[in-house]
Amino acid sequence: MILDMTTYMSEKASLWVQRFLPLITPGGSVLDLACGQGRHSLLLAERGYQVDAVDRDAAALAEISARAPGIVTRAADLEGGAWPYRGRTFDGIVVTNYLFRPLLPMLLDSLDANGVLIYETFMVGNERFGKPSNPDFLLRPGELLDMVRLRLTVVAFEQGEIDAPRPAMVQRLCATGRIGSHLPA
Ligand SMILES: C[S@@+](CC[C@H](N)C(=O)[O-])C[C@H]1O[C@@H](n2cnc3c(N)ncnc32)[C@H](O)[C@@H]1O
Repeated sequence: MILDMTTYMSEKASLWVQRFLPLITPGGSVLDLACGQGRHSLLLAERGYQVDAVDRDAAALAEISARAPGIVTRAADLEGGAWPYRGRTFDGIVVTNYLFRPLLPMLLDSLDANGVLIYETFMVGNERFGKPSNPDFLLRPGELLDMVRLRLTVVAFEQGEIDAPRPAMVQRLCATGRIGSHLPA
């Protein structure tokens, strides 16, 4: 079977991100934090969003730019330097498979009043399955909920064990500053 790029990207992208990205204002600005190879940056650009992709991996960013020149890439050490998006806000922020706790308040400050945060990463218990196993990289039970509950409306939250794409313990959240979002199917 031959897959076109749209299908290929959609299959590789997190189902959680695919499910909730339609909540982000159409055509709006989205930050893909620690974007890696850009599976979500490329999907978001394909869906018409204005994407900023940041990671410390300059080679990966160069590949993203080559595939989608409209994506604004930035090479930055998110854990060693100043927050690279100071003063900017986004209609959406997507974070997957990445955690650096000191950045969490910055993410909330960088979300537009109607913005949507989509987060999915590993949580405690994942050490049974392999890496990441360092507690610094694993969310505590309910941690994403606790982070947003005073500032955002939680649209969806899940935590627990998954079997696919491989066994892992994950936590997932979609939250927004907007009241009364129309929920995706
Ligand atoms: C497991 S990958 C996840 C990539 C992408 N979010 C995804 O889910 O496909 C983690 C990413 O975090 C990036 N990263 C790790 N530490 C970083 C740092 N200090 N500054 C910027 N990026 C970092 C890595 O380069 C890598 O691309």
